[in-house]
Amino acid sequence: MPVMPPEIVRTVAELRQAVNAARLSGKKIGLVPTMGALHAGHVSLVEASDAVCGYTVVTVFVNPTQFGPKEDFSKYPRTFDADVAAVGRAGADLVFAPDNAEVYPAGFATFVEMSGVAEPLEGQFRPGHYRGVATIVLKLFQMVGADIAFFGQKDYQQTRVVQQMVRDFNVPIQIEVCPTVREPDGLALSSRNIYLSAAERRSALVISRALRKVEQSVAAGQRDVWKLRDDLQTELATVPEVRVQYAVVADAETLHEPAILDRPCVALIAAHVGTTRLIDNVLLAPPK
Ligand code: PAF
Repeated sequence: MPVMPPEIVRTVAELRQAVNAARLSGKKIGLVPTMGALHAGHVSLVEASDAVCGYTVVTVFVNPTQFGPKEDFSKYPRTFDADVAAVGRAGADLVFAPDNAEVYPAGFATFVEMSGVAEPLEGQFRPGHYRGVATIVLKLFQMVGADIAFFGQKDYQQTRVVQQMVRDFNVPIQIEVCPTVREPDGLALSSRNIYLSAAERRSALVISRALRKVEQSVAAGQRDVWKLRDDLQTELATVPEVRVQYAVVADAETLHEPAILDRPCVALIAAHVGTTRLIDNVLLAPPK
């Protein structure tokens, strides 16, 4: 059957009208928030939504408030036509692509400030980032009124920030976290991978390699978190072109670093390769 292209709307009023009509016809509403420059990881989120929701909304908005002053907001890749085609093939019904004034009209003055899970790791290296993320995600939840929102595990700390915000503000939405999609050689898909030269891309593979080694150590029975962290850092140090910001093993819920792997944990890495900043992670279950 030919794929119906998704409807494209630019205003909250049009969005609400379309979503209300879908809800009135008995459909469950799924939301996939994105900043565009979509890849197979985003497509997998749309497919996950399409599998359980009768109506899937994809938002495409490069959110200025989550970029620091020295970050890549103005050069962030924008590939709108290809994005619409890709999410249409994956089952999206509507693309909401507002302009900045629709989201942050003149006089906008309210932000979500979060402590706890927003503070370590990305919170240290990208001050203000999660203030912007939590604010835009709450706004998108309010605008769309979806039943379920789909996020990728690749932005692990972001998923914890969103879960915390939903709990703290009693937002009536279910959060689904979907597995990271990787290239066959292990590189986690990211919209920023297009910035990597061929040599940088080769260097970047040490990130997923280090994470895999830690998974293997845990599978072999290692429970000493400091040892696991050392293993991560030792592997990363084999490629000096990769400049590590953090490489840690943390409690999967609080993101604090325990001494012993006696609870679900997550190994997380952030590193620069050339001028490109990459993040990746793997979940670590405590050995039985
Ligand atoms: O993960 C992203 O692409 C963004 O942080 C999000 C959730 C769409 C908010 O702008």
